[in-house]
Amino acid sequence: MKFLYVLSLLAATAFAQVSYQNHTGTILRVDNGTFGPEIEEYHYYYDQWPIGLSVSSKGRLFVCYTRGDYTFTLGEAVNQTAEVPYPSAGLNLPPDMLNTTWNGIPFGSANSTAFISVQALYITPATSSRPETLWVLDTGRPTVHNAAGDPSMPYAQPGGPKLVGVSLDNDTIYTTYTFPVDVHYPDSYMNDVRFDLRSNVTNGGAGVAYIVDSSNEGRPGFIMLDLGTGESWRRLTQDRSVLRVPNDVPSYFGQPFYFRQLGQPIQWQQEGLDGIQITPDGKTVYYSPLTSKTLYSIPTANLLERDSNPLAEIWAKANVSSKGQRGGDANGFEGDSNGLIYQLMPEQNAIYYFDPAIGQTRTFVRDPRILWPDSASIAADGYFYMNINQLPDQADWNFGVDSRVYPGAVLRAKLPNNGTKISTLG
Ligand SMILES: *[C@@H]1O[C@H](CO)[C@@H](O)[C@H](O)[C@H]1NC(C)=O
Ligand SMILES: *[C@@H]1O[C@H](CO)[C@@H](O)[C@H](O)[C@H]1NC(C)=O
Ligand SMILES: *[C@@H]1O[C@H](CO)[C@@H](O)[C@H](O)[C@H]1NC(C)=O
Ligand SMILES: *[C@@H]1O[C@H](CO)[C@@H](O)[C@H](O)[C@H]1NC(C)=O
Ligand SMILES: *[C@@H]1O[C@H](CO)[C@@H](O)[C@H](O)[C@H]1NC(C)=O
Ligand SMILES: *[C@@H]1O[C@H](CO)[C@@H](O)[C@H](O)[C@H]1NC(C)=O
Ligand SMILES: *[C@@H]1O[C@H](CO)[C@@H](O)[C@H](O)[C@H]1NC(C)=O
Ligand SMILES: *[C@@H]1O[C@H](CO)[C@@H](O)[C@H](O)[C@H]1NC(C)=O
Ligand SMILES: *[C@@H]1O[C@H](CO)[C@@H](O)[C@H](O)[C@H]1NC(C)=O
Repeated sequence: MKFLYVLSLLAATAFAQVSYQNHTGTILRVDNGTFGPEIEEYHYYYDQWPIGLSVSSKGRLFVCYTRGDYTFTLGEAVNQTAEVPYPSAGLNLPPDMLNTTWNGIPFGSANSTAFISVQALYITPATSSRPETLWVLDTGRPTVHNAAGDPSMPYAQPGGPKLVGVSLDNDTIYTTYTFPVDVHYPDSYMNDVRFDLRSNVTNGGAGVAYIVDSSNEGRPGFIMLDLGTGESWRRLTQDRSVLRVPNDVPSYFGQPFYFRQLGQPIQWQQEGLDGIQITPDGKTVYYSPLTSKTLYSIPTANLLERDSNPLAEIWAKANVSSKGQRGGDANGFEGDSNGLIYQLMPEQNAIYYFDPAIGQTRTFVRDPRILWPDSASIAADGYFYMNINQLPDQADWNFGVDSRVYPGAVLRAKLPNNGTKISTLG
């Protein structure tokens, strides 16, 4: 016994002094936590925690923040450490006007001209008929707190949930689309959006928006919007491929994650359809729920088919393809000119990509600083920009205890093989 002890002490001394939680000098192979191209720290958030971002052709960085009590929900970075309201502070509905109550039922504001709670941004390049446009997706559903601090999300009223187009030439809103209540349900939550602006893609002649409804209440699906006529319609509502995976327990930052919301018993993450990306030829949409390990795709032809075709939904369901598992749950998506489908992987502190040419998912970058990549934007400079916001540590998911640490960040990395922003759908 004593002999063995002395021997092991000698061995430890001979190789390295290694103690609990300090492996400096170990002789063992260590996971260095990183992979892929160099990552740059591009912007720091010290005030409001961000959700979505988009980078313009001139390198302008736009950011959105869901509300709550934040004073503004859409901003532009003015230097490396600060953002200001965009296009103007006055467009933000004041926090005390974000929600209302009718017959005891909580509703978000129906104001269609003011911003309520912006979840996602996407910039489309200039076309012959349209300036370079910052598209702003307002859910109309803020997260509000009662006197005890319990969070909740009121239902949407028509008018509140909207898609707003801002011209980046003159920094002015030039178009706004709202949704009827049989397309955007009171319990819908518009999480992200992609565009095909080619004139021949729909009858309206001005292109189409593909929106994901992630509805925590359980009715997720796709919402399509004809930008020419303003008509909208749904597809794949509650299809198995868009529903949350029940009782999913992912691991974030090395800890199994349960949803711990004040005023409620411990639950699981409830979010359905979240990630969306369209291919550079406009023919396919890739997608997945937040709580799933599986990547799916659907031909856009099936999403574009209107309800006037009684077989539209049946055909769509029959044309859903599973691309198999990808190695973890995924948050938002992005896509580059090479047709790679990037997926934000909060469990792995990584960005993965699905390569349709090989039918497999691979790692793009991995880094211990990628603490919940929430949204990504590929810019014309060939960089992949991502928002890092430590979301699983926010108070509303942890019984009121906020253990996020400032600053949040935008990180960026150069895309492989000269990949850049998709420019074929203008
Ligand atoms: C970790 O161990 C190394 C020697 O192996 C020592 O130099 C260093 O101070 C230790 N670090 C901490 C944080 O204890
Ligand atoms: C970290 O490990 C990965 C995977 O083994 C390797 O490719 C990379 O070169 C390592 N990075 C550093 C900085 O050692
Ligand atoms: C960044 O911009 C903010 C807001 O305009 C300003 O208060 C701050 O001083 C600026 N910081 C630097 C380093 O320029
Ligand atoms: C919407 O909000 C804006 C900004 O607060 C306000 O100017 C406008 O009057 C509101 N519209 C309606 C219909 O209440
Ligand atoms: C907004 O929601 C909060 C939290 O549920 C509630 O306390 C408040 O009364 C609501 N405001 C209105 C005007 O209904
Ligand atoms: C800004 O640009 C848009 C889109 O080209 C245009 O419709 C609008 O009239 C312009 N607004 C101003 C104030 O110049
Ligand atoms: C739509 O127009 C694009 C060029 O803008 C062309 O490549 C494509 O084939 C057209 N699609 C259809 C269905 O006609
Ligand atoms: C399935 O999608 C393909 C395009 O990939 C299309 O040609 C076909 O008509 C679709 N099938 C149905 C039943 O909608
Ligand atoms: C990327 O672009 C550069 C400059 O145009 C070119 O030299 C290089 O071959 C390209 N690389 C790939 C992988 O296409």
